Formats: sequence, structure tokens, C-alpha cells
Amino acid sequence: MAIRKVGVVGCGLMGGGIAQVSAQAGFPTVVREVSANALEKGLGSIRKFLQGGVDKGKLAAADMERTLANLTGTTDLGAFADCDLVVEAATENLALKRELFSSLDALCAPPAVFASNTSSLSITELATFTKRPGRVIGLHFFNPVPLMKLVEVVKTVRTDPAVLADANAWVLALGKTAVNCGDSTGFVVNRLLVPYMLDAVRVYDQGLASRDDIDNAMKLGCGYPMGPLLLTDYVGLDTTYYISEIMFDEFKEARFSAPPLLKRMVMAGQHGRKSGRGFYDWSTTPPS
Ligand code: 3HC
Repeated sequence: MAIRKVGVVGCGLMGGGIAQVSAQAGFPTVVREVSANALEKGLGSIRKFLQGGVDKGKLAAADMERTLANLTGTTDLGAFADCDLVVEAATENLALKRELFSSLDALCAPPAVFASNTSSLSITELATFTKRPGRVIGLHFFNPVPLMKLVEVVKTVRTDPAVLADANAWVLALGKTAVNCGDSTGFVVNRLLVPYMLDAVRVYDQGLASRDDIDNAMKLGCGYPMGPLLLTDYVGLDTTYYISEIMFDEFKEARFSAPPLLKRMVMAGQHGRKSGRGFYDWSTTPPS
């Protein structure tokens, strides 16, 4: 595999998780945030997760030390100059990604591979922001990254088969399972998952059943690890709303349209777990 050193743009929920699993798998990994504060917050979350693993007996203390030794935080994009793979996990904003991809293109060596963790933007479009469209790919991780086993590996019509092979090998080296798919908005998981989450909000709003009964129905009736309203809180109501807007714009199908209740809750700042309130109150453990 041609991938030795890895860069991750963004140390939030997703970027931090990706940087962690990369470093944990033994790859020297640089993770970049926009400010020293955001970086310290992100690295703090990684340390906390690793320490949680040690406390639960899931991770040896030496493995935690080795992981942290493989991880370098920076606020300077220039630190990616010698990376073989750069995974972008910045905010879902096309203009921001355009700027990032074109800056990375200017500073990284021509063989470097660029991946995006976007959940709904077009990898084909992101590739047009570089002069190396054949070396741009989608690598879509799932939240919480260290625990979720799947990565969607997304190729475009331009993706070089050798890049696809290297990306699949890297995902395997992380101990994850790759599914390969084409560049269609939402890929496989969100294409199927997002309408399900939106429908749960719709039937809740229509009064079909209570919040807990809807969540218990899907959890216990289908064997899902959590019900759809708790999952929406977990993913973030703002993120779910944002993804649904992009998917509706792409497919023009009613099942992707955001329910008014979701939109209202987002406007009210009830973004779920991250804001302390969504369908559940997250100030208690477990959320109530
Ligand atoms: N270090 C190492 N291991 C840890 C750990 C840590 N810090 N914290 C927990 N674990 C381990 C636990 O020991 C446990 O291991 P075991 O199965 O061997 O006992 C396992 O991880 C699960 O942890 P918990 O028991 O604490 O938690 P739960 O069993 O409640 O599972 C969950 C939590 C994994 C989040 C589960 O509820 C789940 O899978 N939920 C669904 C999440 C989901 O669907 N995510 C996808 C969202 S969609 C998305 O991300 C796409 C985006 O584009 C929208």
C-alpha cells in the first residue's frame, strides 16, 4: 500500500475519530483544526475516548500511549505537505471545501490521495477543485467512528483504480469493513437511513405513538441498537436537516424532504446531543 503518512482536516466529531483510528492503526497522523482552541478540544476528546477504552479494559495503556505518539495536532495546512493520504472532515460547506481542496492540491505532492468524509456532497464536484481528479475519493465514516465498523469507499468516474485499491487497503488496515459504491448523493447508508429518520419525525409529529414507543418499536422490533429519534439526536438534528435538504435537492422526492418539526427544532437550537436538547434531554445520563 502506498499510504504511510495520513493527514486529517478537522478534529471535530468525525475528523477526531478518523485521526484517532488512523493513529491507532499505526499510521503517523497529522490532524488540523482552524484554531488552537478547537484543536485542543478535539485532541481532548480523543484522549478522553482512549482513556475510556483503557478504563473499560478494551485498550492497553501502552496502546493509548502509542496512538497518541502517532498523532500530531496542528493549525497549519502546510503540515500535510508530505502526507500520502489527506482525509477532509471539515464542515459540510461547499465553498469551504473548494478552498481546502485547492489549497491542498497546491501544497501536497502529485501522488497524494485526497479523500472527503462528506456525507452528502458530490465527490465528483470536490475532485474538480483539484488538478488530480483521478486521485480524489470518498471515505465516509460513521459516528462514533472508533466503534462503527463501516466505511463507504466512494469512487467517481474519474477515480484511478490504483487509488481505489489503496483506499480499500487503508480502510482494512484500520480494522474496518469497506463497502464500495458510486458517487450518488447519500451513498448507500444515508440513501436508506435518512428517509427512515425523517419518517420517524413525521409519525411522531402526527401523534402515531410517543417518542419512547417509536424508539422502542424499532429498537426491540427490528433489533436496531437505538431507535430513530434517539439516533437523530445522536447524529444531530442540524446535520440531519442539512443532509435532507441536499438529498431533496438532488432527487426531488418527498421522502427526502425535511419535516416541518425537524426544521423548527433546528431553528430553535435543539440540535440533539451536541446542544444538550433534541427529542431527548441530554443533561441526564442516560438522556431522558
Ligand atoms: N474504547 C474502546 N471501546 C469502547 C469505548 C472506548 N472508549 N467505549 C465503548 N467501547 C466498546 C464497549 O466496551 C462495547 O464493547 P462490547 O460490545 O465488546 O461490549 C462497545 O464499544 C459498545 O459500547 P457501549 O456498550 O458503551 O455502548 P452501546 O452498546 O450502547 O453502543 C453505539 C453504542 C455503538 C453508539 C450503539 O448504540 C450504536 O451502534 N448506535 C447506532 C449508531 C449509528 O447508527 N451510527 C451511524 C449514524 S449515521 C452516520 O454517522 C452517517 C452520517 O453521515 C449521518
